[in-house]
Amino acid sequence: MSDKAVLVTGGAGYIGSHTVIELLNANQNVVIIDNLTNSSYEAVRRIEKLTEKKVTFYKVDILDKKAMLEVFKRHDIWAVIHFAGLKAVGESTRIPLDYYHNNITGTILLLEAMKESNVHNIVFSSSATVYGDPAIIPIPETLPTGATNPYGRTKQFIEHIIRDLCTAENNWNAALLRYFNPAGAHPSGILGENPLGVPNNLMPYLSQVAIGKRECLSVFGEDYDTPDGTCVRDYINVIDLAKGHLAALTKMREPNVGCAEYNLGTGHGNTVLEMIHAFSKAVGRDLKYKIVARRPGDVRNLTANPEKANKELNWKCEKTLEETCESLWNWQSKNPNGLEDCPGDAPAESIICYL
Ligand code: NAD
Ligand code: WQD
Repeated sequence: MSDKAVLVTGGAGYIGSHTVIELLNANQNVVIIDNLTNSSYEAVRRIEKLTEKKVTFYKVDILDKKAMLEVFKRHDIWAVIHFAGLKAVGESTRIPLDYYHNNITGTILLLEAMKESNVHNIVFSSSATVYGDPAIIPIPETLPTGATNPYGRTKQFIEHIIRDLCTAENNWNAALLRYFNPAGAHPSGILGENPLGVPNNLMPYLSQVAIGKRECLSVFGEDYDTPDGTCVRDYINVIDLAKGHLAALTKMREPNVGCAEYNLGTGHGNTVLEMIHAFSKAVGRDLKYKIVARRPGDVRNLTANPEKANKELNWKCEKTLEETCESLWNWQSKNPNGLEDCPGDAPAESIICYL
């Protein structure tokens, strides 16, 4: 057991909360900061319930550098896993300044606070969206990036910022993890994705159709050059994804790691219709869907070549698509309203705010 702690920004969110569980199960000390704009404090309570361990949580905004410096002062932190950010592609086209400010300014302030606190190891949540419409499938990390929306550009710019920092100051280490399409939930059914409002993504929308909260799934386009005409994505189980972060942290303990990009995906693509059928099987009945026009901005195929992460991080996906669908249905059926009905805010003593 290491006495030093890992700081997890955005640790109350979907991927962050599942990663915190894996960190605690691996006997790492964890400190979470999250402003709870897209999550609920209940996720932290559930992490504690599942792991039977205490989590240190602060309601802190990454735009509040003074508050972050206070957290670094209170805890002996050796690495940061940086999930905090806004993530809705459509919303980012409507309010780009909010996205650039929250994601990019927030990350710069975090990096400054880390530097001032002598912490130089960072694992960053990037996204396959940085590849835009890729020319090669499966996608290798060497493919030039070319995000096509403000959200994706925040990820691309942050990657550049972290890379430049690692080049300028060789005591920094960074893993830029490009996630493909995270899906599924904790197998206990106690923790999962908790979308606020109408879900943008396929799997949470489909699971709300299954639970009766939404009438019918709209499938965006059936005229793509794919086996059944619908888009192909690489759906990665959230537990496998969480474990990828542990693997990246382990790598950081090696000397002279520097900065590297890694695709976190299964290497296997599925069409939208295949996902509907796989999830319907987990639910045990057919789910209503209709084909509609293409969604602007969607690309034909995003499938990872995960060989670099397999080799250098000694990590690979282990969960099957069936397990992913079953875990999602287990979570959704046990929590029809997600965490909506649970008491929301963090305890007063955990709030640090100088903004
Ligand atoms: P999420 O919204 O569930 O989690 C993000 C967390 O960050 C939330 O709890 C939110 O409250 C917090 N947050 C946002 N802005 C903050 C701020 N200024 N200060 C403090 N906390 C803040 O999202 P997620 O799906 O868990 O995604 C985590 C990260 O992974 C994000 O950076 C996202 O862009 C990236 N990512 C997600 C996906 C995906 O499909 N879910 C894919 C690729 C990359
Ligand atoms: C998957 C497929 C849709 C909803 C987004 C972000 C990406 C990353 C993951 C953060 C596509 C189709 C969807 C629906 C549908 N997030 N679909 N009906 O667009 O691959 O990726 O989330 O980094 O950056 O862009 O994921 O789940 O929205 O869509 O037919 O109601 O499902 O057209 O083919 P996407 P998604």
